[in-house]
Amino acid sequence: MATDISSEPVDTREEARALSDAATAAGYAPSILNSQPWRWRVTGDELNLHLDHSRGLEVTDPDSRLAILSCGAALHHALVSLAAAGWHTLVARLPDAENPDHLAQLRVDHRIPVEPAAIRHRQTIGLRHTDRRPALGAPVDAEKLRAIVAAVVSAGAGLHLLRPDQVYDLATAVDHAQRTEAGEDAWQAELRHWTGGTRPLGSGIPDAAIPRRTPQTTVPGRDFGHHGDLVVSDAHDPTAVFAILYGTQDTTLDWLLAGEALSAGWLTATELGVAVLPLSSTVEVTATRVLVRHLLADLDHPYLVLRLGMPDPADGPAPRTPRLPAGQIIERI
Ligand SMILES: Cc1cc2nc3c(=O)[nH]c(=O)nc-3n(C[C@H](O)[C@H](O)[C@H](O)COP(=O)(O)O)c2cc1C
Repeated sequence: MATDISSEPVDTREEARALSDAATAAGYAPSILNSQPWRWRVTGDELNLHLDHSRGLEVTDPDSRLAILSCGAALHHALVSLAAAGWHTLVARLPDAENPDHLAQLRVDHRIPVEPAAIRHRQTIGLRHTDRRPALGAPVDAEKLRAIVAAVVSAGAGLHLLRPDQVYDLATAVDHAQRTEAGEDAWQAELRHWTGGTRPLGSGIPDAAIPRRTPQTTVPGRDFGHHGDLVVSDAHDPTAVFAILYGTQDTTLDWLLAGEALSAGWLTATELGVAVLPLSSTVEVTATRVLVRHLLADLDHPYLVLRLGMPDPADGPAPRTPRLPAGQIIERI
């Protein structure tokens, strides 16, 4: 049975180690083109999350919405790590009105009993990955979908599951967005930078994670401008479910919360054996972002499209992408 240990004195070295471990765990978070646009500053009893513009995508993501969403996922990973280590954490989001790149400040204030779910989530951080292969398994059962939606909602965003007729509208929007991006040299140059042989060491998407041929999916995956080495079946993916991560406003805070919710939903999906593929081209292109908003009955703001599906039982694990060394993303002051 869980005991109340909140009155135990806090050891400051343990506190510092937990914050440092949280920043390390956050490094495994998903990010747009694996750019990892975050920087963590650990001071004595604080962990601060900053947006790192040096790894921003000026053409693909000029207002940093997807970079901030990625940072939100990293923030959630850090909170999962602290909960699994038995810490109650105080979080201030956007704590400095003068500095909008200072996204969050975390302090641990007392010990809490460790819940089994927190340990499971911490372990799942190392197992979660993006799967670009067609989802060829059985249909995703309704209970799993409900659990994923609930995880997203509990972290502060919404997840709208598209009806089959809406999936065709989504496919049209994605196709339009990909054509727009394919037609712009600057867009393609940025994509090549993050997915080609000269991508920054420890970041970007290697050929091992890019399909060897275009998958036969209802809604196209990202067009990387070249084929990679990832073996994909030539079968169609009729059982894939498409969802829109959304919220009521379109501010920095909303993007940060959406990223936290993305992480919460994705970790839950991974635990349930559901593969996740984010599709962001429709939100990168302003015109198609408006089209996707119509799929939400114009009431809310779309942050990201997700494909959910049961993987082909014949598939091995999806390939891992590299990560920057901790020294490049964590600063100890
Ligand atoms: C905000 C965001 C947008 C993304 N958009 C896409 C996308 O459009 N297409 C795609 O194949 N992957 C997309 N991804 C997945 C990233 O490429 C992936 O998280 C990154 O390469 C790290 O790989 P991992 O998720 O396997 O750890 C996106 C991820 C995030 C967080």
